[in-house]
Amino acid sequence: MERVGVVGCGLMGSGIAEIAARAGADVVVVERDREALAAGQARLESSLSRAVASGKVPEAEASEARANLSYTTDFTRLTDRQIVIEAVAENEELKTEVFATLDKVVSDPDAVLATNTSSIPIIKLAMATGRPEQVIGMHFFNPVPVLKLVEVISSLLTSAETTARVHEYASGPLGKKVITSPDRAGFVVNALLIPYLLSAIRMLESGFASAEDIDTGMVVGCAHPMGPLALTDLIGLDTTLAVAESLYEEFKEPHFAPPPLLSRMSQAGLLGRKSRQGFFSYKA
Ligand SMILES: NC(=O)c1ccc[n+]([C@@H]2O[C@H](COP(=O)([O-])OP(=O)(O)OC[C@H]3O[C@@H](n4cnc5c(N)ncnc54)[C@H](O)[C@@H]3O)[C@@H](O)[C@H]2O)c1
Repeated sequence: MERVGVVGCGLMGSGIAEIAARAGADVVVVERDREALAAGQARLESSLSRAVASGKVPEAEASEARANLSYTTDFTRLTDRQIVIEAVAENEELKTEVFATLDKVVSDPDAVLATNTSSIPIIKLAMATGRPEQVIGMHFFNPVPVLKLVEVISSLLTSAETTARVHEYASGPLGKKVITSPDRAGFVVNALLIPYLLSAIRMLESGFASAEDIDTGMVVGCAHPMGPLALTDLIGLDTTLAVAESLYEEFKEPHFAPPPLLSRMSQAGLLGRKSRQGFFSYKA
């Protein structure tokens, strides 16, 4: 996997592009417009600079990563890619469109088309292409350069060869720990995590406890690195809502139903860290 494409350079796409470039691949990043592209490039650059400043990444590796990256709004630049990882917003219609486009523009017949979706069935995206055996889920965790896990999700039609290549790429050059999940909403981690986050939001909404006390309880009492509300802010309230809706639609279990507070805050643009206001406030 020496020629990598990443579609969408938001929170996740910028992290995926960063680790792929740091691993030595030539990486083409595609965004929907110039403004989003500039924001994505700035996000990636600031993550790389932070990693250098903290001593985690040598300056030489960061410079090489920068040289490996190119940014564009033109999907046809993906034509010679061996793997394309899609990380656009969690919206089925949008992702389906992106996969139909990838199927048209990626010319390598062996190329892997991967999605970082948190909850959309891989098979639905695979069926938007003429090569479902090469479509697979690669579910990274935020922040991508820091968290080591990748869930690999094969659909009913993903070939064993595609699965093996993706396992090898994620655990080799990308240095991730891989776990395997079936093609079910939420996969392994979110099927466990989302009900926990929703319970914390319900607790806040009902006045049972304050946001500070809920988070302090889990950080200090259970040694979690952050509380559930701060974690929801980090993931993004819109993304959390979308994942909860998919889980609820798939399993129809009440503990997956999004509480109204999450929907209203999301509709109000109070999305967490990315909008600087969620359950807590964040400085620019
Ligand atoms: N946030 C998390 O913690 C997390 C964790 C794992 C997986 N995911 C998944 O990763 C994906 C991306 O989430 P995110 O948090 O990075 O969202 P985000 O909103 O930060 O980024 C999405 C990016 O996609 C871009 N985009 C939208 N339409 C596009 C198009 N047609 N072509 C190219 N780019 C386009 C947007 O401009 C934006 O920069 C989602 O599927 C989400 O479920 C998120």
